Amino acid sequence: MNITASAPGKLMLLGEHAVVYGYPCIVTAVDLRFSVTIEKDPRVQISVDTPILRKSGQPFASSMRYILDQTTYPRAVAFVLAAIKRFYSLYPFEGGLKIVTAGPEISYGLGSSSAITVATVAALAELNQVKLTPQEIYSIAVEAVLKVQGKGSGFDVAAAVYGGTLYFEQGGKVIETIQHKDLPVVIGFSGDKVSTTNLVKGVAVLKERYPDHVEGIFNLIGKIVREGRTRLETGEWAHLGDLINLNQGLLESLGVSTLQLARQIYAARDQGAYGAKLSGAGGGDCMFALVAEEKREAVSWGIEQAGGVIVPNALNADGVRIE
Ligand code: PMV
Repeated sequence: MNITASAPGKLMLLGEHAVVYGYPCIVTAVDLRFSVTIEKDPRVQISVDTPILRKSGQPFASSMRYILDQTTYPRAVAFVLAAIKRFYSLYPFEGGLKIVTAGPEISYGLGSSSAITVATVAALAELNQVKLTPQEIYSIAVEAVLKVQGKGSGFDVAAAVYGGTLYFEQGGKVIETIQHKDLPVVIGFSGDKVSTTNLVKGVAVLKERYPDHVEGIFNLIGKIVREGRTRLETGEWAHLGDLINLNQGLLESLGVSTLQLARQIYAARDQGAYGAKLSGAGGGDCMFALVAEEKREAVSWGIEQAGGVIVPNALNADGVRIE
């Protein structure tokens, strides 16, 4: 018997970086799904086959003992193995596993690691007939992700588990679904970024040097997120656009934007977007613009002219599910 689970990627709408320090953020799940198929293997061996490993002709295989003993894993399989180790420490099972992951060819930095981790936990639970609540899947997956990444808020894991659009605060102590009308956004990809870990470290260094200033910036971001939630719920796009632009200004001040992102953000605003900002850690990856339907084409054109790749998207996607 094999089990497949899939989970969505995510787009951070407001609040990145400050969320690492307990402030709120708003994230929406993106219908860019990543899946994990798991089958029991009577040999006590774990094999993992991912699209990247397949291309290089080097699928990963090792003993269960190795997974349990190690604290770090090869990058290409790190999230899957960390999820197995965490799950096993709570719900030990017999034998080994054959695992195949799948997903879109390009993930655009929209949360593939958290989606794969969450899908692995959900598939393992189903395979071993362990009933987990979404909250339990979230806790196991967050611990696995943090083991690999070191630091992070867990917002991306929450989006992969629950789907929809979430108000997320205090490292997941508050996770609330936000009801809203279809969110009219255009997403632009600016190119791969340096690692999230390094960008988060950069902000930590700035905070150490200027604690009051950076705390002040985080406080303002928190205010923007809370007001953004209300504007999102009421569908006041022009107001939400202003808040998106304010948030971008503050991310600029934290030093996480790039010339490429800024070019696309300004191009989107020039073409009449309500607002535009980077999404996620910065340093590359995606920006998005909030646009009136009649401006969508012009804004997409502007972003492309500025060197961006338009990412087709459907937001507010479903959370993790067994396929
Ligand atoms: O770029 P991403 O998807 O890794 O997003 C990182 C968002 C941060 O707030 C910078 C980190 C976090 O874990 O919240």
